[in-house]
Amino acid sequence: MIRILVTDGMEKSAVSALRQRGYEVTEQFYGPDELGKQLQDFDAVVVRSATKLTQPILETALETGRLKLIVRGGVGIDNIDSGYARAHGVEVRNTPNASSASVAGLAVGFLFSLSRSLYDANKTMHEGKWEKKKYAKGIELAGKTLGLIGLGRIGKIVAQTASALGMKVQYTNKTGHKPENEPFRYVSFDELIRTSDFISLHMPKADGPLLGKAQFDAMKDGVMIVNTARGALIDEGALLDALDAGKVASAALDVFTEEPTKNERLIAHPNVCLTPHIGASTVEAQERIGEEIVSILTGKFN
Ligand code: 3PG
Repeated sequence: MIRILVTDGMEKSAVSALRQRGYEVTEQFYGPDELGKQLQDFDAVVVRSATKLTQPILETALETGRLKLIVRGGVGIDNIDSGYARAHGVEVRNTPNASSASVAGLAVGFLFSLSRSLYDANKTMHEGKWEKKKYAKGIELAGKTLGLIGLGRIGKIVAQTASALGMKVQYTNKTGHKPENEPFRYVSFDELIRTSDFISLHMPKADGPLLGKAQFDAMKDGVMIVNTARGALIDEGALLDALDAGKVASAALDVFTEEPTKNERLIAHPNVCLTPHIGASTVEAQERIGEEIVSILTGKFN
């Protein structure tokens, strides 16, 4: 019997569908000390971002030669040493389309939240306060320039939505201008940094941070930053310094260099809107992800 380990949770309907087809599905999270050993008896593993499949864990897992497939229910595979896995005959798959609309929706929600300080106004109301004057300096999104770093599946939905809201959308990415990215304006990374009122990141994890002190220094005064991509794309210390200096007016973060974040300065900062990596955590995205996982697994082990 094909044995599948699901470590970070998966849509119930997907678990049922797999069981109905005769696969044995175990839903269990294992810490890094146990995971490799446990994986020795599974044919496939399904993870989200919490489980880290590092080389040492995979080395142990592969001692029996049973593991043949890693499925990342989601987009980013930076938590998996996919190079090592593939070099040792383990297929690595993800579900790149299923959550785009949800992550983009969160990024656009962050634009609204920052522009009107919704996150803080909500918090102070729950504290029993009525601080109408404090929130009198909101700004409209229409007419403002949104700079997107990355215009892939998610970035493009953000661009289309922001355009419909009347924002001027400009973008930069590694592959430069492409005709299919019309009507959005392609600019260099440096120009985007200098000229955007809002900056939103839509890139995979890079080798180092894309936004650090030099980039924050070069930004417009009062810029607002959104990150629903990967925490490591921003130097959190430099962001906090820029927030303290008033250079960055506010930032909305769904992702962090360490998750769960233990950055106390960040957690306590009044001008930061925080969510616990929930970009893909919608009913619709998880249903689509579940369906795609079922199709990947049944395609592999039919
Ligand atoms: C992704 O890469 O798919 C998103 O960051 C969501 O990650 P999650 O599945 O751990 O919520």
